[in-house]
This record gives sequence, C-alpha cells and structure tokens, in this order.
Amino acid sequence: MITNDQISNVLGSQDLGSARHQNLTRLAVSTLGSHWHVNDLPWDSLPLFPFPEKLSDRRLKSFVEFGKHAVKVQLAAEHVATTAARALLLRAEKDRLDYSVRRAIAAVLNDEASHVAVMTEMDARAEAQYPDIPLDMAASPLFAPFMDAIPSLHPGLTAMFMGAYEAMIAIRGYAEQASYGRPSILGEMAGHAAEDDGRHAKVMRLAAHEWLDRFRAGFADADARFQETRRVILDPIRHFWQLLMEHEFYLLHYDARHRDEWLKRARGDLALAERIMQLLGFSDAELAVADLRGLTEDAHRQLAAR
Ligand SMILES: [Fe+2]
Ligand SMILES: [Fe+2]
Repeated sequence: MITNDQISNVLGSQDLGSARHQNLTRLAVSTLGSHWHVNDLPWDSLPLFPFPEKLSDRRLKSFVEFGKHAVKVQLAAEHVATTAARALLLRAEKDRLDYSVRRAIAAVLNDEASHVAVMTEMDARAEAQYPDIPLDMAASPLFAPFMDAIPSLHPGLTAMFMGAYEAMIAIRGYAEQASYGRPSILGEMAGHAAEDDGRHAKVMRLAAHEWLDRFRAGFADADARFQETRRVILDPIRHFWQLLMEHEFYLLHYDARHRDEWLKRARGDLALAERIMQLLGFSDAELAVADLRGLTEDAHRQLAAR
C-alpha cells in the first residue's frame, strides 16, 4: 500500500501559494541538472532484462515476453508524457504564464524526449536479440484516448492528470527496481526514471495550480464557476479515471487471478489523486462530483464479476 510519506515525497505536502514560482524555478534547475540520456546506460556491460542465471527455454521465453511487454508499455507511456509536456509548454507560452512555469515544463519535456529515445533503443535491441519470441499485445485502453484528447483538454486538467500519473509511476518505479534481483538495463532505467518522475509530478501539480487559479478567477459568481469546473475538469476526470482503472487491469494482462494486486494499485492511484485534488484546492462539493472513490469501487465490482 502507498503510504502518506511516499505521496508527500513525490507530490509535496503544501499548497505553496506565493512560493510556487520559486519552487518551479528550483525544480527546473534540479530537473535540468539531473538530466541523463541514452548513452549514460551501460548497454554493453549489462543484459537488457533481469534474467536469472541458468534459464530453461520455457522460462527464458516468459522472461523475454515480460521484458518486451514492459518496454512497449513504457515506450507508449513516454510518448504520452512527451505529448502532454509539449502541449502544456505551448499553452503556457500562449497564456504567458510565469517563466518559472515554462522553464520547469521545458525541463520535463527534455527528460521525456530522452525517455522516448531510451525506450526506443530498448525496444529495438529487444527485438534484435529475441526475434523468435514475438509479442502479440493489445494497446492500452488509456494511453491513446488520453493522448488524442490532450489538444481539447483544459491545461489544468492535463497537468493534474499527469501529476497524479507521474507520482504513481515514480513510486512504482522504485518498488520495481528493488524487485529486480539482478542488474539490468531495464532496472537501471527504472531507477533513473523514478527519480525523474518524482520531479515531474511536482512540476505538473504546481503548473496545474497556476492554470486552475486563473480559471477560477475568471468567474464572478460561484454557481457559474461550479458548473464550468464540472464541465471542463470534473466530468473529464471521471472519464479518464475509468480508463485508468481499466489500464491497471491491462497492465496485469487482464488476468483475473491478479484481482488483489489490481485493488492494491487502484487504491494507491486513488490516494494520489485525492491528495493532488486536495492540494489543488478543489472544494468538498467538487470532490463529491468527481467521486473517484465511487468510480474505483464500481470498477472493483465489475472486475469481481468478470
Ligand atoms: Fe518519462
Ligand atoms: Fe515523467
């Protein structure tokens, strides 16, 4: 289970108010300072995947399938992150947001583009090394619909969703890396990316706050604000939350034996999403409309009935 400390580590624990710009500048500097790229990985001295020694052919096949699956999912996720960061940066320029916001998002975009290069290299090498173990896999139910929707989404919503998502993969990345018994390129990548994604999560939640502040300041009356928040933020969140719950099952290969693991992950996602919405100043009435807890329970019931 995800702990409150883990959540605070990746998302921060305070509203920050007027210190937001200072914080974003600091995050831009630390993100650029920690940047790494494809040539920093020890490609020639480590295996791609964390294989145990002395594998039977059958076990080798399932390890390679596991590795290829992880790489292809991660490559797709990096494309989503790059698309989101690029769209948000253009929007931040257009909206003339403070330079601290633009610097921090530009630093995230730089990282995500590097991640795409790394995962493309992993994908190419995995296919070249194991051409006789093909992988037939479906696409994520979340990634393409979310990526396609980005141009039409409110930037505050895109940044908030990416904040929760980056926080989730940062926490999982650490756990995953710790679970890989042997050194591998995949393990090294998981460690590096988990650190990056912790910074990305903070940038995204602070950037989301900048856009939400502007959005909220644009209404003279509270009812109009509530209705519009519902239309452009809360209803779309509900939609993508349902896809995220489905995506979690997809990551577990739609295997009903993994229901308990699904529930554990879904609860972790929920804790992160609730924290980020609370940090972003959503009211109780707004949180009740989003009702991510209810959606998570619905998804759990549907899963139990499959
Ligand atoms: Fe990334
Ligand atoms: Fe990231």
